[in-house]
Formats: sequence, C-alpha cells, structure tokens
Amino acid sequence: MHTRIRTLEEYHADYQQSIEDPDAFWAEAAEPFTWRKKWDTVRSGEFSPAGESRWFDGATLNLTENCLDRHLELRANKLAIIFEPNDPKTRHSRLTYRELHEQVCQFANVLKKNGVAKGDRVVLYMPMIPQLAIAVLACARIGAVHGVIFAGFSASAIADRINDADATFVLTADGLNRGAKQIPVKSVVDEALETCPSVRRVIVVEHTGWPVQWHQGRDVWYHDEVQDVEKDCPAEAMAAEDPLFILYTSGSTGKPKGVVHTQAGYMVWADYTFRNVFQVEENDVYWCTADIGWVTGHTYGLYGPLLAGSTTLLFEGVPTFPSPGRFWEVIDKHHVSIFYTAPTAIRSLMAHSLDHVLAYSLSSLRVLGSVGEPINEEAWHWYNQHVGKGRCPIVDTWWQTETGGIMISALAGITPSVPARAGLPMPGVQPVLLNQDGSEIEGNDQEGYLAIKGSWPGVIRTTWGDHERARQTYFTPYPGYYFTGDGARRDEKGLYRIIGRVDDVINVSGHRFGTAEIENAINQSDYVVESAVVGYPHDVKGQGIYAYVICKNGVPTTDIELQKAEASIVEAVVAAIGRIAKPDKIQLVSGLPKTRSGKIMRRILRKVAEGETTNLGDVTTLLEPLVVDEILAGRK
Ligand code: WT7
Repeated sequence: MHTRIRTLEEYHADYQQSIEDPDAFWAEAAEPFTWRKKWDTVRSGEFSPAGESRWFDGATLNLTENCLDRHLELRANKLAIIFEPNDPKTRHSRLTYRELHEQVCQFANVLKKNGVAKGDRVVLYMPMIPQLAIAVLACARIGAVHGVIFAGFSASAIADRINDADATFVLTADGLNRGAKQIPVKSVVDEALETCPSVRRVIVVEHTGWPVQWHQGRDVWYHDEVQDVEKDCPAEAMAAEDPLFILYTSGSTGKPKGVVHTQAGYMVWADYTFRNVFQVEENDVYWCTADIGWVTGHTYGLYGPLLAGSTTLLFEGVPTFPSPGRFWEVIDKHHVSIFYTAPTAIRSLMAHSLDHVLAYSLSSLRVLGSVGEPINEEAWHWYNQHVGKGRCPIVDTWWQTETGGIMISALAGITPSVPARAGLPMPGVQPVLLNQDGSEIEGNDQEGYLAIKGSWPGVIRTTWGDHERARQTYFTPYPGYYFTGDGARRDEKGLYRIIGRVDDVINVSGHRFGTAEIENAINQSDYVVESAVVGYPHDVKGQGIYAYVICKNGVPTTDIELQKAEASIVEAVVAAIGRIAKPDKIQLVSGLPKTRSGKIMRRILRKVAEGETTNLGDVTTLLEPLVVDEILAGRK
C-alpha cells in the first residue's frame, strides 16, 4: 500500500491489494491520522442486503484534530484557506492553519455557550464565506451533526430539512451576494422557522450589513457571542460511527433524503481520494469551485484539503461575474495549481469569447478536475486546450453524495484520462455492470446498471431518521451490491464511461432533482390539476427541466391566462424548492399520455422533450392516443 500512488504499476498493485486484503490496506491508510483510540475492526457489519457497514469500529477520534491540530507542528503558518469574495473589488482574505484553528475553536465555544451539545443537529444556511467553513468545523469539533443547506433553496425546503433532521440550531448570515444576485438569507430563514418548532437559537454572522428582523430570545449575533469566549476548545472524542453530517439529496421518489456520513471512514476516504486523485503536493493551491452546500464542497472544498494540510480556496461568486473571465482571473491572482469544477460551468464559459480565457496566463495550473455530470467531449477538449494548455491532466471524477468521495476517476497523470471516460476505479472500489435481473455483465465493451460490490470507507451509513429507506434504496435492489442509480459502459480498455441516471432523477447543472419532487411542487399551484416532469438535453445545464402541466380550466386560450398560469407554476416551484429547480420549459396540455391502468408513459414525454417527433414507439396501449398528437403539436 502506497500512501500516495505515483506510478501506474503502483496503482495496479494497490488496487489488487485493496480488493484482496482490504483490512490491511485501509488499516495502513488510517495509520497516519491522530486517533484517541485505535479501532478494534477495520471493516465490520453487513454490507448488502443489510446496509450496515461499519468502518474502524471501536476507534475514537476528532476530525478537526486531524484537519487542524495535527498540522500545527509543521504547517502552523501555511495558508489553510484563501477567500475570494464575490466582488473582485472587495479585498480577499487568508487564514493560516494556526488562525483557522483558533477561529474554529472560538466558533465551537460560541456554539457550546449557546447550548449546542454533542449529537445536536445544526443547520447552516450561509453564503460561501470562511465563516461557513469555520462553522462546519466548529460543529465537528464539539460533535454536533452539521446539515448544510445550499443557500439557494427556498424557505419551505429549509423547513422540510430542519424538521426532518429535528435540528435545534441554525447558523445563517444577514445576507448573501452571488454574482449580481442578492439573497436576504436571514429573512429566508425567518420564514422557514415559522414552521420549525424545534429550533431554539439562530446564530447570525454579519456579512453584508443589510438590515434584518430580530427575534429577541432566539437570534444572536456571532460577533457579540464571540467577545468573551476562550480561544481554545478541546475537541470532543467521537466514536468512529457517530454521525458527522447530514446532506439532503434527491431520489426518484418523494422527499429528499438526509444522507448520513460518519467520522472515521469518511475521514480516511476523503483524505485518500483527495491526495491520490489530484496528486497533491505540499505547495499546491487548490480550488474546488463547488459551494459547501453540496457534497463536493464538503469532501473536496473542505475536509479533503484540510486533512491533507493543503491550501484550499473558497470562492463566494459565480463564473460569469463580473465577467466570464472571473475563474481565470482568480487562478492567476492566487496561483491556483489544481482546479476542480463542473462541466456546466465549463460549457457556460465556452459560450463566451475565448478572449476571456486568453487574457490570463494560467501558468500556475497543473491538474484539472471535473465533477457532477458526464463531461461531453467538446467541453473536455476546450478545458484541456484552453485552460490546461494541453499540459494539465484532467480527472473526470464520478461519485455521489452517497459515496462520500470519488469512486471512479483517473489519478492525475498516472492512470488513463480519456475524454468522456471517468476511467478506472479507486483502490477499494469494485464497480460492476448489472443486467436488469441483477446478474453481473462480464468483459469489456459492455453496458449496464452501475453497482458497487462490497463496502468502502465512505459509503452512506443511513438516511436520517429512516434507515429502512436507505436499505430499500441502495442495498436491496441488487443484493450484494450498492446500487448507484446510474447506467455505465465499460469500454474496450476497461475504462468506465458514465451514461447517466437510470431512475427518475434529473441532473441540472450538476444538481440532482427527483421528477416527483418537482411535480409535487408544481401541483401546489392553484392552476394545476396534474403534471409530469422529464429531463431533456440542455446545452449548458446538461439536462433541462421540461414540465407538462394540466390546468384546472383546460389549456388557457388567451395569452394573459397562459402567462398567469405559467407564472404561477414557476412560483410554486420557486417556493417549494428554490430558483435552482425552475422548469426550463412548460407545456400546458389537456391530458397526459396514460396507459389504461393510469400510468403516465414517460417514455413518450421524454422523447417529445428531446425533440423526437416520429419514433415514439407503441402508443396503442394508451387510454387516449390523441393526446400524443396534441402534445406533439404544442411542444416547446
Ligand atoms: C450523480 C450524483 C459527485 C458530487 C457531485 C454530484 C452524476 C457525478 C459524474 C461524472 C458522470 C457524474 C451521476 C451521479 N455524476 N459525477 N464525473 N460523470 N456523471 O453529486 O448530487 O450526489 O449526484 O451525479 O449521475 O449519480 P450528486
């Protein structure tokens, strides 16, 4: 086992060892960390069908001791965080490991002073600023379970999550700037909390200086609370399998589920995958553009880099503000050497003049990464040629909120990196392709359902408050495997190509939504009787949201009525989920293609949304075949 794989031979040797003797392999990977008490067993529990994996059971540790205290001896004055604000005219800031350690301890003491205890759930709804990173780590320091909600979700989505997690504390800020947009996050939280009786305290970070409403007895300012707390905070000893965080993500049915990750396995997995995939060196400046509100921000914006003692850049803004050259400007400004972003961002920048890229040298770059959705060949080549100047390996990393960290990816410059291929599995990961009946498909040049055989340290442990749901979703569809929900192809060389979801999940700009979740939102509109949502190929977002909607009084006949109905549908989605789930296309219809047993034939709706008008397949089993003609005639 090599702590850092450096050659293809080492990769193959380590891969083999990780499969043949996982206990020895992961024990060695776990060795360099700070443990209060070492584990009794490396791997235990039943993986599948039970879904009860345990890693490093019996151990106690604290993640922040490994992210911070462990580095103070050698890296106290090394930069831990570089913060680049939304507006380039505002000064950036930096925190060394020593400063970050102190600020985390102080924030942890503020949490304690306000009554937060080990095991309590703390929800964070924050701008992408250092205080978000600090607050997340402060929770981990005292053993509180953090639940970050991306600050783009609506009040109602926040309330659902707070109530599901039975959270007692909320951290937020007065306001947030994202590009030209301004979001009064505190007032969104205020609205959410009208239906969240469990929340006792809201800690507010002053960021924009905007006026806020104050709930005496519930709200406190962070800057007041921090005045008289100690600069040191002993770290809580956590059991290996105590929950670390909850992160809500969408599935094919019903409400988003709270994916739970725990302490030790997640730590080892985040660190191992981060260092090996990106081939990180001591002096790298690393930038993951994902918001901490998503799993990518958790594992590769925060925990992975800090565990490795790296310098991580946090960016508050968006790729196109104030101009489409912003990413490249930031890379030059801070000498970023490893850059990790999403295909949707690359595609949105490709649409602008190349001059925005050519204006910057980008000479500090060494490694490029992609995550969140399949990267199309055109975007891959643009990224490679214009950003990497043909000299930076690209890692196309496939993974999921549920996998905790990267599962299939090139190791930068070591294992093959081919456009539109995620590549080879990480050590410890056994991907398989399954037939519909659950049998394994052998050999190369094959396609099937992507599943993972056997456990790995970062596997999802449960869905918060509903273990049965996790078992049913991931571990029982194909006994013996973790089911990913993706389809994949193993090419002639054995490299994996991810095709996309095989369930009713759509991936919009790298964000996951369940079609049922969006339909439920649309159906909240007073105008709506019924709706059906499908994904369709979208040039920038990867997939767009196409909604077919039946209105109460039939299809509106005047433009004004039409606009009113559409506005009401959009508003319903924005209210229930947030602006990020807004349908791209809405088609008002008088009926949906249903079978005689009442099942919507989504296949037809998907084809029409994709622009297919002729080969719709067999429509004879439809209750009313004529609705198909109407849908075709009115397609957007
Ligand atoms: C789904 C997981 C992984 C963190 C960000 C998204 C798709 C993710 C890739 C990739 C093709 C990808 C899959 C997966 N996906 N990365 N490199 N190539 N598809 O996390 O929200 O949990 O979404 O994103 O469909 O199932 P998530």
